[in-house]
Amino acid sequence: MANQLCIVLDFGGQYNQLIARRVRECGVYCEIKKFDTPIEEIKSLNPMGIIFTGGPNSVYDETSPHISEEIFEIGVPILGICYGCQIVAYTLGGKVESCTRSEYGKIEISINNESLMFRDIPEKNVVWMSHTDYVSHLPDGFYVTSTSDDCPCASFENPDRKLYAVQFHPEVTHSEYGRQMLGNFLYEVCGFSGDWVMDDFIDSTVAKLREQIGDKKVILGLSGGVDSSVAAALLSRAVGKQLTCVFVDQGLMRKDEGDFVEETFTKLFDMNFVRVNCQDQFLEKLRGITDPEEKRKIIGTEFYNVFWDKIRAYGTGGYFAQGTIYPDRIESGKGNLAGHGSTAVIKTHHNMVKPPEDIKFDDVIEPLCDLFKDEVRKVGEKLGIPHELVWRQPFPGPGLGVRIIGEITKEKIKVLQEADAVLRDEIAKSGIESQLKQFFAVLPDVKTVGVMGDHRTYDHLIGIRAVTTDDFMTADWARIPYDILARVSNRITNEVEHVNRVVYDITSKPPGTVEWE
Ligand code: XMP
Repeated sequence: MANQLCIVLDFGGQYNQLIARRVRECGVYCEIKKFDTPIEEIKSLNPMGIIFTGGPNSVYDETSPHISEEIFEIGVPILGICYGCQIVAYTLGGKVESCTRSEYGKIEISINNESLMFRDIPEKNVVWMSHTDYVSHLPDGFYVTSTSDDCPCASFENPDRKLYAVQFHPEVTHSEYGRQMLGNFLYEVCGFSGDWVMDDFIDSTVAKLREQIGDKKVILGLSGGVDSSVAAALLSRAVGKQLTCVFVDQGLMRKDEGDFVEETFTKLFDMNFVRVNCQDQFLEKLRGITDPEEKRKIIGTEFYNVFWDKIRAYGTGGYFAQGTIYPDRIESGKGNLAGHGSTAVIKTHHNMVKPPEDIKFDDVIEPLCDLFKDEVRKVGEKLGIPHELVWRQPFPGPGLGVRIIGEITKEKIKVLQEADAVLRDEIAKSGIESQLKQFFAVLPDVKTVGVMGDHRTYDHLIGIRAVTTDDFMTADWARIPYDILARVSNRITNEVEHVNRVVYDITSKPPGTVEWE
């Protein structure tokens, strides 16, 4: 049975994915569609609710995204948020004007009319506003349900037509009762039953996978990252030994990480697990290379070649599985806006791999392609993947290759792995791990003078990097307490051979990046 569906119509705002995630957190399945998706297509999906997202500044700007009045005729409840709220007013004959004073930040609203949207929410509450236009005249049949000091229509509605609009952003955490407002729209207005539950997702996906795969074999490239690990666990539950996971260990992972991945998937899950150890082969290709982009290119190409050579040897046919997740598809432009007023296509994701011409599969399977990262993690935990792997911090594809500045050698890999392991151990013991989004050790191509006992030393310098961030586009260096840094430094210089100095990176992004290369 398909889940009940809410459609998030994307008008190009920065919070489109956040709205969709919040809807899912309310237990309602939703998909993001472009604002210009044909009405017939929307109708054929049979949604029980539609949410218009925020977007560019002015509905009067010809290049801004607009929508046909027909959408309001199909009888499905609609909630317009921010620009989406102005689109509701503008399209149905209301008036939108520029504010004399933009509203930005936490603003108090007063609810002044009964509304299903505001059921059980205090009359005065704080919401997040960010707009320079506002709705100055409502379309016929609508009335105001809340106001702020600077906004006479903070929200309005026509409950007979099930059309609702809020100028503020209920999806951001700064809106005190935002989650409850979205929940009220979904449950009180649209009548969703809350059938988006991860246990059900696992059961129904496993059943679908079994039916699709039949008695054929499936191959999955396992990186040890969250997405491919969860995809592997899900496929293992569905088809057991018909699944072969190929894990290419290029020798540029953190200390003991390759063994941990192998142990997890051979001991806890039923599958064929193939580990390809190829550090020497990678080091040979990387010999003498110091340019970061060249290193990335070599590591990427070599990885691709080793992986597909293994698949060739194993024999192709059957299915090829990947850990693609929903944001990968949106970021790659499939689910996103193209053309005017659009959020730009951000990146093509490393998760979506194209096999070489000579390798043919019956089809590609992407069992997580409708899930957000937090949902993938929930599924992973329910499937019994160790916490350490499910909550793993991001680790770049080229691994330690971009954390060893200059030429990569076996000796340097060992030094960095040991130093990084000490850092991870101390951070885990300190209790501050969950506050850091990413932390790691870096080995610059620098040696410094030190003293040990009566001897002069001339050895490696280790850099420590730790950041806090929401999205990795910007980041701040983490204010790790000095006593923790002192323990890290003492232990690294005492326990890791060939390191006599430790420094802490206090650069934010921008101007720095998270990684040093
Ligand atoms: P930067 O250094 O660009 O890092 O501020 C932002 C995030 O991206 C990760 N990163 C990479 N991930 N391949 C990857 O898969 C790469 O080449 C790469 N470079 C950086 C970085 O670890 C951080 O999470």
